[in-house]
Amino acid sequence: MCGIFAYHGHRKNAPELVVEGLKLLEYRGYDSWGIAYKTEKDIEILKRVGKISDFDTKKEKLPEASLAIGHTRWATHGGVNQKNAHPHFTEEKDIVLIHNGIFENYLEIKKYLEKQGHKFKSETDTEVIAHLVEEHMKTHTFEDAIKLATKEIVGRYALVIINKESEKTIGVRKGSPLIVGVGNKEFFIASDIPAFLNYTNKVNYLDDDQMVIIEGNKIKFINTTNNDEIKKRLVEINWKPESAEKGKYPHFMIKEIMEQKETLAKAIEQDPKNIEELAKAIKKAYGTYIVGCGTAGKVGMVGEYLFSKISKKHINFSFGSEFPNYQDFLTEKTLLIAISQSGETADTLEAIEVAKEKGVTIASIVNVESSTMARISDIVIPIKAGPEKAVASTKATTAQLAILTLLAYACDGGVQEGKKLLIDTVSQINDMLNPRYEDYIMKLAKKIKDVESMYIIGRGMNYPIALESAIKLQEVSYIHAEGFAGGELKHGPIALITKGTPVIALVANDDTKSDIISNATEIKSRGGYIIGVSPENHDVFDYWISVPDTGNSSPIVNIIPVQILAYQLAVLRENNPDMPRNLAKSVTVK
Ligand code: G6P
Repeated sequence: MCGIFAYHGHRKNAPELVVEGLKLLEYRGYDSWGIAYKTEKDIEILKRVGKISDFDTKKEKLPEASLAIGHTRWATHGGVNQKNAHPHFTEEKDIVLIHNGIFENYLEIKKYLEKQGHKFKSETDTEVIAHLVEEHMKTHTFEDAIKLATKEIVGRYALVIINKESEKTIGVRKGSPLIVGVGNKEFFIASDIPAFLNYTNKVNYLDDDQMVIIEGNKIKFINTTNNDEIKKRLVEINWKPESAEKGKYPHFMIKEIMEQKETLAKAIEQDPKNIEELAKAIKKAYGTYIVGCGTAGKVGMVGEYLFSKISKKHINFSFGSEFPNYQDFLTEKTLLIAISQSGETADTLEAIEVAKEKGVTIASIVNVESSTMARISDIVIPIKAGPEKAVASTKATTAQLAILTLLAYACDGGVQEGKKLLIDTVSQINDMLNPRYEDYIMKLAKKIKDVESMYIIGRGMNYPIALESAIKLQEVSYIHAEGFAGGELKHGPIALITKGTPVIALVANDDTKSDIISNATEIKSRGGYIIGVSPENHDVFDYWISVPDTGNSSPIVNIIPVQILAYQLAVLRENNPDMPRNLAKSVTVK
């Protein structure tokens, strides 16, 4: 949610470098963007509404500078317009900053600052920070003024600030990611590593309440709570820049769907110690909760079914945002398993904070190994899906599902059995994901591309997959889509079925099969057009999408054709599947 990128070094093309780096962070927000760069005397600012990827640095030449900061926005406070786009600055552009996060008490501070004579141009919380720093600079240095301001700010933030007077670039974080890339006499500060991966793979991670100060060739880190200087370890990242690029594919979403052939295999190649450690913690815990948001939340719900079916364990699921309601049930014997692609989702992080206060053991199943979530967890299972750029999660989803399946087997002493099932599933997915399969789904996509609504039904572990299918379709096709438990349809939603309404029935070859087929038949009798995602064809299906019969890993194989369908519908409806309207990949606000 909002991408931050700053360059401080010897290159003369900092503005262009920052714009190009921001394009790689565009998945974090894309309603407007802006950069600020330092000239000899001043700080110049350029802001635009719209996608940064539409800005061609070859056509519109940017001036030379060696220090630039930039931001791509997902609006929270204030509408989408040039004024509200970042960077924000004080009246004389003495202090200029970019911000990711939410500054909760900004109205209070704004009122106070207005009384002191400050004038504001935007409706954002961010602009208030610039003025607050300016206010403190009446009596303090730039660095100290920022420290004082951060003490007054309530909320989650990552900030990068520059000022006219000094040659310093200062970054500070609390709750939102900020990573420093360290090159040869040059530095990069970004919300995520891909922004600078073309220049360096050496990074310093900033933790909460830490500040980075870059001046000339020097860099230092400070703990803002006690002013102590901190020595940081330089970490080498082994991602290849191309893993964060589209390659031969027109969009990241389809690239990532196709990558599932490899990512699933990587996910199950876990260090057995990790899986055993978490399985042991689940067995030992008195109450285990899984939390996650959005797609990761739906994966968590599948977990409830997997553990119940495979290892006869009762596990509770809660969306991250709802978890604080359960805090009265938490004790030191509780285990919390957080599921997340980014490891930065604010609601999931808050659930962890609530649990930590009660002494709960925290485990995370996470893609970004350097994320806040991974860093504050007691046990971490990396899903190893590589960078996921499309807003709609696909390869991270199936990798998370694979790990939960493995864990459920491990809790029943059957980790090898689970591994065997998943290896077999991977090989069947390899066969399934071919161009003919895509063409076959495309025929269906062309047929239903103009419908207003569609529904998805599933039972057992495919019920949460029906919910996830609905998210995929909503996110990128913008077709009204809803998922239901097969048995629930006749209690209300069946009233929505009219002649030709497409309904996807997710069928698994298990004890739910005959019931879900009955539910599909009930819908068909009311005129519904039944799309069966199933290992076998059935008379009730008007359109059959074949999936391999993989037993307890049916959630993994059943979601893949729906991911492809959602992608194809987005393309046919001329939507950008990688950057759906109103959404952002990493939701770092509550
Ligand atoms: C956003 C993304 C979803 C994702 C959710 C949780 O809404 O668009 O794809 O599932 O956040 O994100 P996380 O990074 O925690 O998995």
